[in-house]
Amino acid sequence: MTVDRRQTWERQWEQHTGEEFGWYLREVPGELRDMLARPDRPSGGVLDVGCGNGIATAFLAEHFHPAVGLDIALGATRQARELTKDRGVEAAFVVAEAPRLPFRDRAFGLVFDRGCLQAVPREAWPTYFAEVDRLLTPGGMLQLFVSKPVRPMPSLLSPYGVRARVRKMTGRRSGGPAFLSVDLIRQLAPKTMDELVLDEFEFTTTANQKRLFIHALYRKAA
Ligand SMILES: C[S@@+](CC[C@H](N)C(=O)[O-])C[C@H]1O[C@@H](n2cnc3c(N)ncnc32)[C@H](O)[C@@H]1O
Repeated sequence: MTVDRRQTWERQWEQHTGEEFGWYLREVPGELRDMLARPDRPSGGVLDVGCGNGIATAFLAEHFHPAVGLDIALGATRQARELTKDRGVEAAFVVAEAPRLPFRDRAFGLVFDRGCLQAVPREAWPTYFAEVDRLLTPGGMLQLFVSKPVRPMPSLLSPYGVRARVRKMTGRRSGGPAFLSVDLIRQLAPKTMDELVLDEFEFTTTANQKRLFIHALYRKAA
């Protein structure tokens, strides 16, 4: 586990409740409800990677068993435990750092991730997808949401204009994690997984920030 990264997140979760973060959702994403309405929806266990304060885990626990939330920060899992207790649902929480997901092969029918993969270093993304593939049962699904703030492009004539456009095309950002574009997700997804949905859209968060979201739904071949 990388101590610095863990400590940074731990500090965030010590200082804030889930509701105070810009990414907070009062309700689970509509795409999650849509996935549950599919005739081929998965069953069995669910893993919520980067579960935060457990909003999605608590909802998922009503539909999957076991429901496990995993987060790099103990503080996040503490809040998630409280939230699931208040809602009267059963879920387990684990502190671990993706991409390493400490569970047995084929342990889950669904891996759900809203906002975690983008916090994982770029060089670890192939391992993340390999781990998800390893954990899923045949016919199991990965539902993934990644996002970044919507910012206007600097002018092409400014010193940053060309660099920003190159970064947009390559998916690279200097010095930090890169944004996962639709093309990059397509390249990274294991060949054993079929793409069901891969959409990009703008979304306004509860903190009134505009973000560009990608929603991906993959099914592991049966
Ligand atoms: C953007 S928040 C999203 C939280 C939650 N999924 C939601 O939708 O409300 C990202 C979460 O991932 C966790 N996280 C960041 N890096 C992680 C990693 N490498 N492994 C596991 N969790 C991580 C953070 O502590 C944080 O709770």
